Amino acid sequence: MLYSKFFIIALLVFMLFIVIALLSLFIHLLLGIFANEVPFVASRREAVKAVASIEALYAYPEVWDIGSGGGDIVLGVATHICKNSKLKRKKIKVIGVEKYLTPFVLAKLRYIFSGRCVRKHVKFKLKDAFKLRSIPSKACFFFYMLPAFLERFYTVLEKKGFPECIVSCAFELPEVYDNHYKLVATKEFTEDSLFGTQNKHIFIYKKQQG
Ligand SMILES: C[S@@+](CC[C@H](N)C(=O)[O-])C[C@H]1O[C@@H](n2cnc3c(N)ncnc32)[C@H](O)[C@@H]1O
Repeated sequence: MLYSKFFIIALLVFMLFIVIALLSLFIHLLLGIFANEVPFVASRREAVKAVASIEALYAYPEVWDIGSGGGDIVLGVATHICKNSKLKRKKIKVIGVEKYLTPFVLAKLRYIFSGRCVRKHVKFKLKDAFKLRSIPSKACFFFYMLPAFLERFYTVLEKKGFPECIVSCAFELPEVYDNHYKLVATKEFTEDSLFGTQNKHIFIYKKQQG
């Protein structure tokens, strides 16, 4: 009798623990998606394809996705590298930086289930991009971020250094970047969504010398 009472109490405590854990996960997920300076909106298949086919990305030993979300761009770029024997030999590292735990965990899970080659090229960091310790100059940075974020991020680049290449999806770099970057190409792609078919642009910038 005493044992069965103890068992029921233990079971209730366990169930309560599970409910609290699920609830906090759900709240965290909502916060990560909505209460975020830049919400978690994953690049769709057409965007990933368009970005991965940009040759400028592969001219550097590192490609960074600032705000890497669920890892769509990072994994797409690494997959492109792995399918190309010339790029594969270049040992390019594709690095995703994500501030929020939920998209980061999603990206990590997808990473775990990726092939060996993709895993070799990819690294995901759980970090606020504004707290990056250093910024490599021999790198191409990818952004799918709102203009307000891009404007604020310029102050980080001023302090930590400017990467040689920036690729920005959907939004042009704000004016503050004009001193250091020149727009060298644009790319258009078509995306189908619930709201219909949209034409979107990708802006490719190179650092100006001197
Ligand atoms: C529009 S989503 C882009 C996701 C991914 N790059 C893609 O194209 O699929 C922007 C991502 O940036 C992340 N983010 C917002 N502020 C950030 C910060 N300060 N540092 C790192 N990541 C951030 C958000 O959590 C979100 O996942």
